[in-house]
Amino acid sequence: MGLSGSGAVASIVFLGLCATVSCWPAPPPPEMLHESFAGKSEFRTVNRRRLSSCSNPSPYLSINVSSGGAPLPDEAFLTVTVAGVLRPDADDWVAMITPCSSSVSGCPLSGVNYVQTGDLAHLPLLCHYPVKAQYMKRDPGYLGCKTAACQKRDASGACSVRTCAATVTFHVINFRTDVEFVLFSGGFRTPCVLKRSGALRFANPASPLYGHLSSTDSTATSMRLTWVSGDGRPQQVQYGGGKSATSQVATFTRNDMCSSPLLPSPAKDFGWHDPGYIHTAVMTGLQPSQSYTYRYGSDSVGWSDTNTFRMPPAAGSDETSFVIYGDMGKAPLDPSVEHYIQPGSISVVKAVAKEIQTGKVNSVFHIGDISYATGFLVEWDFFLNLIAPLASRVPYMTAIGNHERDYAESGSVYVTPDSGGECGVAYESYFRMPAVSKDKPWYSIEQGSVHFVVMSTEHKWSEMSEQYKWMNQDLSSVNRSRTPWVIFIGHRPMYSSHVGIPVNVDLAFVASVEPLLLKHQVDLVFFGHVHNYERTCAIYKNICKGKPKKDESGIDTYDNSKYTAPVHATVGAGGFSLDKFPRIVLNKWSLSRVSEFGYARVHATRGDMLVQFVSSSTMEVLDQFRFVKPDPARRLRNKPV
Ligand SMILES: *[C@@H]1O[C@H](CO)[C@@H](O)[C@H](O)[C@H]1NC(C)=O
Ligand SMILES: *[C@@H]1O[C@H](CO)[C@@H](O)[C@H](O)[C@H]1NC(C)=O
Repeated sequence: MGLSGSGAVASIVFLGLCATVSCWPAPPPPEMLHESFAGKSEFRTVNRRRLSSCSNPSPYLSINVSSGGAPLPDEAFLTVTVAGVLRPDADDWVAMITPCSSSVSGCPLSGVNYVQTGDLAHLPLLCHYPVKAQYMKRDPGYLGCKTAACQKRDASGACSVRTCAATVTFHVINFRTDVEFVLFSGGFRTPCVLKRSGALRFANPASPLYGHLSSTDSTATSMRLTWVSGDGRPQQVQYGGGKSATSQVATFTRNDMCSSPLLPSPAKDFGWHDPGYIHTAVMTGLQPSQSYTYRYGSDSVGWSDTNTFRMPPAAGSDETSFVIYGDMGKAPLDPSVEHYIQPGSISVVKAVAKEIQTGKVNSVFHIGDISYATGFLVEWDFFLNLIAPLASRVPYMTAIGNHERDYAESGSVYVTPDSGGECGVAYESYFRMPAVSKDKPWYSIEQGSVHFVVMSTEHKWSEMSEQYKWMNQDLSSVNRSRTPWVIFIGHRPMYSSHVGIPVNVDLAFVASVEPLLLKHQVDLVFFGHVHNYERTCAIYKNICKGKPKKDESGIDTYDNSKYTAPVHATVGAGGFSLDKFPRIVLNKWSLSRVSEFGYARVHATRGDMLVQFVSSSTMEVLDQFRFVKPDPARRLRNKPV
């Protein structure tokens, strides 16, 4: 979903990210992080401001970076020092830009490009959008000139010209293109350029980075690894003690981004960033539920650290566990503002990383609204870096959402500019699912006792559509002896008590697809899009067909040996500012509502499936429910012939 709510957010440090890279120097203290979250910040419109010229800039100004001119490592916290300031101003700020050739001049002729974002008032300031920015007053000593220097002394030796200095810290990751810091005055509303740091380059723009896993089929004998590098020659993944697989290499260009002649998109214009090369390779000959070490790269570009992943259980085996959430995105690991920040994302990643460390999670499902890069393409690198502790260890299975796919005249069902012009191209390049084919991102996969059907709510789903026929066919081919449970997954919900604008529930979608769920006895449905958690009774056409009963430990239990209808759970609380529920909810079908950041954790055996919604900040279970049904395999065996 795209609308921002407001949400107070606890400051959270994320410590797990730098395990495999040198964090250099130390990250900023936790209290500096994320003080000013907003779905969309004031900074988001910075490139629509008119660029004025600064009056009387100090002749002593300098802007220096802690790297001291040395090439940058793959991940670092850089200290940026501004010195020689005559009058420290609350409106002074520093932007991080990439590449350095980006235009930081005003771009008045591009004014028409920005109309689609709904802001008609201002011309762009920068022809290219900065990666992130911070006000200098972040340094508590700045406005009071705690760090002063004397530039000129009078005859008596007294200081006649005194200047001030201050520092701010930026988290930078290897996004391959060179970096520059630019000092502005005038705030985000009337900015002018004061000073530029000069280019800083990454030591190895070709570094193989951000490796993430995805399952390829239900046999659990092969696993796909996808990674990013600035080098387009094939590389290898080495795994399982002596095996290797060579990568296929893909990329996409500005020309692949969607736009319309009248309204160029961010992706095609001021948000474009070169993605480098996306490498993908399938590791084969693996065994279900076994762990393997791996590394990826090549002798010429270098190798990633050695990591370990675990295969999920094969289809038809006795049990499986997974974590599922939607709408996660990313947030900066420094106090910067970026064009789009999802305040709960760091906390959810941290909590899910802990779940994975227990060894009990077989896979992660992220069901739409993945990175919220939305046309500001460098943000995909930051997102991939954020999820590395999860996606490098277990398969990271995804569904497409409006913020990956939707754009006018691009074939999406919903004609909104929500993908910022990416129209699914970036998503499909980074997240290679076992999908039907290009731009048909629906698939099914089985793990343990569960058959998962993953659809795209952004592609046509009406009765006559290819996707509908595929869903019907796939659901009717499920062997319930092999996988007693069927879980249906998509991005936009069929039921939600949150009152949103535009409305959250598309009644045409419900009318078309809900009958399939009932016809094929889908047990459980997960959707995102709405940024909270909600659970229904067993429901069909707005009516409760079945209600859970408390089991001996007080857990709501749906007896699916007498199947009535699917149970729906919204799990869009993965990071985007939360959606609140109305104070009074009259929907009889709504059995549990939580507006906190978190994820669902599911454990399914053959006869029992437990679902728990977990708060990411406390890791407490805030709602839980289970399904029971006699094991069909056992029933078959017990039946007299
Ligand atoms: C910034 O770097 C320049 C060039 O290396 C140097 O002359 C200057 O002293 C530095 N300024 C500060 C405040 O460190
Ligand atoms: C269904 O699965 C069971 C258990 O794996 C298997 O024995 C049976 O042959 C399958 N049935 C069909 C029609 O494939």
